[in-house]
Amino acid sequence: MKNSVTPNGREHWDSRTVFVLAAIGSAIGLGNVWRFPRICAENGGFAFLIAFIVALFTAGIPILILELAMGKRTQKSTPGAFRFVGSKFEWLGWCIVGVGFLITCYYAVIMSWCWNYTVYSFNQAWGDNPSAFFSKEFLHLANASDLPQSLGGIFSGWGSLSVKILIGSVLTWLAIAACIWKGVKTVSKVIYATVLVPWVILLVFVVRGVTLPGASEGLAYYMSPRGEFLTFLMRPSTWIAAYTQVFFSISVGFGIMFAYGSFLKKGTNIVRNAFIIAISDALTAIIAGLAVFGCLGYLANLPEGATPISAWMDSSLGIAFVAYPQLINLIPGGMIFGPLFFIMLLMLAVDSAFSLVEGCTAAFEDKYGWSHHRAMLLICGFGFILGIPFMFQTGLYWFDTLDHFMNHFGLMFACIVECLVFGYVYRSGRIRRDLLDHHDNKLGPWFDYLVRYVSPVVLVGLLVWEIVDRAKGSYEGYGRTTEFYGGWLMLIFIGVGALVFTLLKRRKSEAV
Ligand code: PHE
Repeated sequence: MKNSVTPNGREHWDSRTVFVLAAIGSAIGLGNVWRFPRICAENGGFAFLIAFIVALFTAGIPILILELAMGKRTQKSTPGAFRFVGSKFEWLGWCIVGVGFLITCYYAVIMSWCWNYTVYSFNQAWGDNPSAFFSKEFLHLANASDLPQSLGGIFSGWGSLSVKILIGSVLTWLAIAACIWKGVKTVSKVIYATVLVPWVILLVFVVRGVTLPGASEGLAYYMSPRGEFLTFLMRPSTWIAAYTQVFFSISVGFGIMFAYGSFLKKGTNIVRNAFIIAISDALTAIIAGLAVFGCLGYLANLPEGATPISAWMDSSLGIAFVAYPQLINLIPGGMIFGPLFFIMLLMLAVDSAFSLVEGCTAAFEDKYGWSHHRAMLLICGFGFILGIPFMFQTGLYWFDTLDHFMNHFGLMFACIVECLVFGYVYRSGRIRRDLLDHHDNKLGPWFDYLVRYVSPVVLVGLLVWEIVDRAKGSYEGYGRTTEFYGGWLMLIFIGVGALVFTLLKRRKSEAV
């Protein structure tokens, strides 16, 4: 297979299929199998599902179209696309890249857990109590109440660093680098495996999950309204969770889809493909939910040691790492299902992680004319280093805090500025006209309403609500110190970094 390179040196996808698969690969990841069920369980099951679908159609899909269309129009990654509208907006593009980058830093650490769990699963090393194993033996999790004093052992010595997680993380970054070694060219080859294989495995788990005895109780929790249905639906927090989960899951607000759009040739249909990408992702999450909730129903109905479904609502961080191991212990064929599950998670995650690295490298290549290898190695190296704090005894709390801040502030902010800059300054009507280079690339006026009015109003409302909520108390009661270092300081870090990259000189051919 050969890749076409245009006179401006930009690489292009081999084919439409490769593009759609790569974008689906970016979208489907740990977000679908690990994050979606936990957020869904925390926010009332079915009520969340409804909010998720509304968020997908009112904001997720329009913003996905916007990112792909602007990438394709400008043939630039995120900062370049913002610069195209006006140089004063460039730093916003770098902020978005920064948010995506920090998310990938902790994402890679969860991938590292998956490597470890793949090994554990061969002999079910987690024993009879996977929950205790996960927090005590694997993570050596410290007490949350010690958090402000000890800062998770980060300042109290390297002794509390988990070498296993460190090794897993090295493997993760090596795998990411290998998948994008020659840029779009390598991606075109690996993408078939990393998208299609885990899908098949996931289907096996779904069938297994829904046919477990007692599964129906879990499925009812997930798929039908209960007493608190309206209460959950009235809570702004459910909606914030839904919107942020949609952005996280379809990879918008990360700066990835601008880059992926910029590798598109003229004439590719964006609207139809965006629907295909977003709907495949959402369906995968919803279907993966069947497997997870089926499993929770089963665990709630065990004759001995049953765990009620509501118990997962607080400790749901570990659904994939606690509920599944528990299931694997109990079902016949656990020896096969165990490794299969964690290998599936790794395959799902790797194409999401490398899509982000591609998004970042494209930004540096575009602006500074760096070579692909140089940009990639620096980003992978830096990503690995920034992941180190999550490998300590309190890593989980840091990561929970950062996940919350990056999603609730970072992705929200990213999507709001995209709607404002491209919807108003560039103008959404122009995006619709640009797309007409393809005869059936028609985008109705609904796009204008959603990008200019509905999304920004809803997102700003939710963001303000979140800020007020944070003013009331620290996230999860972790304390203000943790929140400051793990959340606010990271946002400041992104802003400062964005300004630096904006002000640094661009390569000669780009200078204006
Ligand atoms: N869409 C990804 C997922 O659902 C999230 C992600 C994308 C994370 C890119 C990191 C980098 O898992």
